[in-house]
Amino acid sequence: MIYDRRPDDMVRITTPELADKFIEEQMEALREQIGDKKVLLALSGGVDSSVVAAMLIKAIGDKLTCVHVNHGLLRKGEPEQVIEVFRNQMKANLVYVDATDRFLDKLAGVTDPETKRKIIGGEFIEVFAEEARKLDGIEFLAQGTIWPDILESEAGIKAHHNAGGLPEDMNFKLVEPVKILFKDEVRIVGERLGLPVGMVYRQPFPGPGLGVRCPGAITRDRLEAVRESDAILREEFAKNGLEGKVWQYFTVVPDFKSTGVKDGKRTFDWPCIIRAINTTDVMEVTVEHLSDELIDHLVKRIITEVPGINRVLFDYTPKPPATVEYE
Ligand code: XMP
Repeated sequence: MIYDRRPDDMVRITTPELADKFIEEQMEALREQIGDKKVLLALSGGVDSSVVAAMLIKAIGDKLTCVHVNHGLLRKGEPEQVIEVFRNQMKANLVYVDATDRFLDKLAGVTDPETKRKIIGGEFIEVFAEEARKLDGIEFLAQGTIWPDILESEAGIKAHHNAGGLPEDMNFKLVEPVKILFKDEVRIVGERLGLPVGMVYRQPFPGPGLGVRCPGAITRDRLEAVRESDAILREEFAKNGLEGKVWQYFTVVPDFKSTGVKDGKRTFDWPCIIRAINTTDVMEVTVEHLSDELIDHLVKRIITEVPGINRVLFDYTPKPPATVEYE
């Protein structure tokens, strides 16, 4: 059956057997829910939507159309990778939409975190609706909503873009096959569905993307500084054996400048904050302490390679009290 909420007595999925049981139950439930109708999937390339894609490919095959929207807030190289993995390797029915200008124009000058999230979420739904209109007979919209998204939306902590549903004048019904799972459970299920390990254990990336790591009003130059510094951080974590070991790591470029000096001249540039955390369920997180050598190396690379950055800071705050993301 399709659960609307996680049953209080649900056993935590920690073994391949429990994952297989969940998958088996969901296959039947999904086929029953969807019938011979078509489904549109918001495929971000992250763990949750990738697992949803794998579940739906298994359940309904080519009745699934995946849509990858580049909202301009993706990490360096990400849209290219999504196309390679899903279109070329998994042979999924994939539509790629570059909506960068549309999102960034709408977000221009918007400083409030929740308003930014709502604009990104709303625009997402719009883009999907437009794609759906171009396709024949789509009745369902699949989403990678997971249980912590629902809990945090209900608690009013933050509006997750993939919780809360569609505007009333739209006719999509929702398919959310991992809605009652915690993140660690989603990964085990993904592995059992045969997704590449590197994809299943890849660090999570929020729906609003780099937009929540560019606090305040997003500008293209500061966004580029976030993207470039993130790429350097990911490259260095991979080189130093930390990829797949540290749960999530990223950079944030806040909207203030400070004085610096370069080649004997005054600079007035942004700081870049490094955040690296570990957790199992994301309700509580601890900070990953990096070696002095790695920190020194990261600082050197970021200040020399990323235009607009003249300082690098490290965030030592656990959750609670700080959430993982800055907005
Ligand atoms: P927070 O900041 O709430 O983050 O402590 C917990 C985890 O959720 C990710 N995150 C999101 N994921 N849509 C998502 O799909 C969102 O709107 C969103 N906000 C945060 C965050 O990266 C972290 O892993």
